Amino acid sequence: MNILGVESSCDETGVALVQLEPGLAVPRLRAQALHSQVDMHQDYGGVVPELASRDHIRRVLPLTRRVLADAGATLADVDAVAFTQGPGLAGALLVGAGVACALGAALARPVVGVHHLEGHLLSPFLSADPPEFPFVALLVSGGHTQLMRVDDVGSYELLGETIDDAAGEAFDKSAKLMGLGYPGGPALARLAEFGDADTFALPRPLLHSANLDFSFAGLKTAVRTQLHKLGSNVCEQDRAHLAASTQQAIVDVLCAKSLAALKQTQLKRLVVAGGVGANARLRGQLDAECKKRQVRVHYPELALCTDNGAMIALAAAMRWQRGLARPRRDYAFNVMPRWPLQSLSVS
Ligand code: KG4
Ligand code: ZN
Repeated sequence: MNILGVESSCDETGVALVQLEPGLAVPRLRAQALHSQVDMHQDYGGVVPELASRDHIRRVLPLTRRVLADAGATLADVDAVAFTQGPGLAGALLVGAGVACALGAALARPVVGVHHLEGHLLSPFLSADPPEFPFVALLVSGGHTQLMRVDDVGSYELLGETIDDAAGEAFDKSAKLMGLGYPGGPALARLAEFGDADTFALPRPLLHSANLDFSFAGLKTAVRTQLHKLGSNVCEQDRAHLAASTQQAIVDVLCAKSLAALKQTQLKRLVVAGGVGANARLRGQLDAECKKRQVRVHYPELALCTDNGAMIALAAAMRWQRGLARPRRDYAFNVMPRWPLQSLSVS
């Protein structure tokens, strides 16, 4: 069967078609298409929800046509339509939900609401080196930073999470203070390549706390204080040093807590997902530390780290395989802008 997936929770419109066959352990990605709104929001220094919703409306059907054409399929080949039901921006989510439910109703096919973070979490299953259950998941996106114990699809135990800013927010807010624009994570990472991470001693909040929680709000304040000390005519080299020091502080905390979660659960597999999972420094440090401990680390393909439709279609397909998809045919859609991932757990 073929599942069409639509992602519209924030600032990317993503559509994809995955195929599910009885003999296929992991669903196959047939085609996907993405439109990023980054250029549109750049002038505002962040996502403008109303503009995001309007742009999703403009993009979603042309992207759907392109995906079907690339897959050599037609609407008649679509057996179910999945969409991101939450969490995310309410207006943006409603666009994907509305289009998915309208398509489902028109085609007389079931619709499946998908949790955005479950999409991220399962996205490494589309990589050349897919993980096996159980594993520890480090979910690091623009809005979430969580460590989960994952025993199967739909079995999620929260081990720790941020008590204030997410790791992606720490990147984005620090980058904004440094005048690097939006989204700040990739820009800060690029600048960090030219700096020395030991130059500025920035805090690593909760690094040695007994639990697996994170806190990044203090880091942003420390970056602001450091910039203040450097003054208005800070040179490019100091900016690069500050970017490198900031990135290193975030990476050190993410790495230490992931290792602590592996130790606590006694698991030997780590899955890293979400936009910050694209960070090369994070990947390098996790790879090195995990190798020492005989832990396997899995990442999504780089293109699937940030938001996309493939992970939504995939999550629906993996749920479908296990009888957990809860397909609906009433087409009365609702979205859940706030929706904790662990509430999906079946047990
Ligand atoms: O998962 P995602 O695309 O969207 C959410 O669901 O939030 O994550 C976006 C976040 C942003 O904060 C962005 O700055 C960050 O991921 N990000 C990065 C990198 N690429 C994206 N942060 C650090 N280094 C990167 N290379
Ligand atoms: Zn995301």
